[in-house]
Amino acid sequence: MLTYKQKYSFDEKFDFYKKYINKNIESFLKKYPLNPPRLIDAIRYSSLDGGKRLRAILVYASGELLSIDKKLLDPIAVAVELIHSFSLIHDDLPSMDDDDLRRGKPSLHRAFDEGTAILTGDILQTIAFDIVINSKEYLNFPNQRIQLLRELAHSIGLEGMTGGQYLDLNLENIDIKENDLIDIYTKKTGSLIRASIIMPSFFSELKKNDIEKLEIFSTNIGLAYQIKDDLLEVEHTTEMIGKNINSDKKNKKNTFPSVIGIEQSKNCLAKYNRIALDAISKFGEKGLFLKSLSQLIIEREK
Ligand code: IPE
Ligand code: IPE
Ligand code: MG
Ligand code: MG
Repeated sequence: MLTYKQKYSFDEKFDFYKKYINKNIESFLKKYPLNPPRLIDAIRYSSLDGGKRLRAILVYASGELLSIDKKLLDPIAVAVELIHSFSLIHDDLPSMDDDDLRRGKPSLHRAFDEGTAILTGDILQTIAFDIVINSKEYLNFPNQRIQLLRELAHSIGLEGMTGGQYLDLNLENIDIKENDLIDIYTKKTGSLIRASIIMPSFFSELKKNDIEKLEIFSTNIGLAYQIKDDLLEVEHTTEMIGKNINSDKKNKKNTFPSVIGIEQSKNCLAKYNRIALDAISKFGEKGLFLKSLSQLIIEREK
């Protein structure tokens, strides 16, 4: 049993939530039948351990800012991580980025096979929705349950992650401007990050003006997250990031560093972080965890 302490340092708190989320994913998955065994193995292989769990931790940090009961956040946190794992499985497929390494181990289609990888991604997506649809935590919150489902669907749909991934697929070998990249990154990566931060607000009485502050924060850290991902590929080693550092180069992909240069990309990171931090400064102490996560996003080494 993991007990939350009030006096954590940032690192301890991050570590607590990581373990807490892994444990919750494990117990949510246990509710499903264990057949077919190989498919279950593939689901577990791709969704347990390995990830930073940043999106789920953002759910709790946003919940902290809004004083939301953790129990109401647990299904959301698991749902966003399963959707994220699904997006990574499909992102690595030969017809997408064609990557062999993910989270320091063979990507799912390499460890299993392509068909299994496609279907595991599909299943993780349906499990994520199933969790929100059936969680008893929301029995007294029918309206919020619908709002959560709507937000999740929107964030991964045509105007969100999948639409962004489609645009990203066609980013190879074309002439592109910074604003086009901003649009794509906001969709493919930013929209799920944004949803992770905004969904807890459905349980709060936050005024429109304050929701807008959270929107500004989440949009800017979503963008920063993908720019940092690009920079890690250019500046780090495969061992450090647990994925192939030649992926973008091999795919001749336009990225922030390739379009505006490394230094300019770093300036953008700092700028987006500053805008994000400013947006939530009015929340004071309660926003500190969220602010620290924004800082982590631009400073992280994997
Ligand atoms: C990688 O995301 C893909 C992007 C959207 C940038 P993460 O870096 O959050 O991946 P994990 O979950 O920690 O492996
Ligand atoms: C991944 O973007 C975005 C999504 C999976 C939605 P990238 O292709 O840049 O991420 P990595 O570098 O493979 O993790
Ligand atoms: Mg990709
Ligand atoms: Mg990729």
